[in-house]
Amino acid sequence: MAILSALTPSLPLRERIALSAREGLLCRPKWLPSWLFYDDAGSVLFDQITELPEYYLTRTERGIFETNADDVVAQAARGAQLRITELGAGTAGKTQLLLAAALCRQERIVYEPVDVSASALTAAQEMIEQEFLTVCVEPSAMDYTDGLTLEPRKQNERRLVLYIGSSIGNFEPAEAEALLARMRESLEPGDCLLLGVDLAKDEHLLLAAYDDAAGVTADFNKNMLVRLNRELGADFDLDAFKHRALWNAEASRMEMHLESVRAQKVNLAAANLEVQFKAGETIHTENSYKYRRGDAERLLRSAGFRPELTWTDEHGWFAVHLARV
Ligand code: AVJ
Repeated sequence: MAILSALTPSLPLRERIALSAREGLLCRPKWLPSWLFYDDAGSVLFDQITELPEYYLTRTERGIFETNADDVVAQAARGAQLRITELGAGTAGKTQLLLAAALCRQERIVYEPVDVSASALTAAQEMIEQEFLTVCVEPSAMDYTDGLTLEPRKQNERRLVLYIGSSIGNFEPAEAEALLARMRESLEPGDCLLLGVDLAKDEHLLLAAYDDAAGVTADFNKNMLVRLNRELGADFDLDAFKHRALWNAEASRMEMHLESVRAQKVNLAAANLEVQFKAGETIHTENSYKYRRGDAERLLRSAGFRPELTWTDEHGWFAVHLARV
């Protein structure tokens, strides 16, 4: 799955959506890019996912920071002042744990959330400024897959870039490498990256995390069709598609698909496209790679970083890597 948004950053959103829908739905097997999940409704659904009992990722990564935040910031800073840049605006506990730990070592800190969504940035800024008087929030609205344009840091500072939450898992290995290599270009020697990755584990735990009992992940997956109906005037019948989650052991990834329950024809008016579905035919909507031991270090090295330290939880479900430029 190519990340088309990265190739055509200048197009208006609706055009990008139409192009992506055309590209993916004309392919066999059909696919749609996972960035389409995250409109306002999709972001709310994703937040709900992070609270589900089956979705261990967020809770496990937060636990790693609860135990190790002091160590993480000390190792990243190495005696210098930190400036924290986060890809994907974070308002939640995870970011706050790291900011709080940094503020035990320095009086003030600059926090630079990066997100495509202006509303996410505003929410992050309000939340963080309310929680910490000594954090200076400098938001920047951009798509980090296009590369980062960052404020130059000061001489006595090191930049710590947070790319947590296992977002890297949505990229194909080659895309992930290119993305990290591009990030590295905007960093200076001594700066570092904190990368959160989900690890391969028992298949039943993975399947439950991506097909929860309450059906929130199913709604999240189908929200892509809701979005195409709204933005492209499409006529997807939401009851005629089923959420499917499967474990692809060979590729070490969870996959999400939408399966057409019957033969049907869908019209996407604004994309000037009509699509036929056979009964049982699927649209591939997401890959979520689950790293095995050594994978993350290899990826970081091939992107030009030096992996330094790794923290994990008691079950070995999730890992956080610190890597240096
Ligand atoms: C936000 C990419 C980490 O892959 O687990 C949640 C998105 N997909 N449930 C993930 C997601 C299905 C999530 N990431």
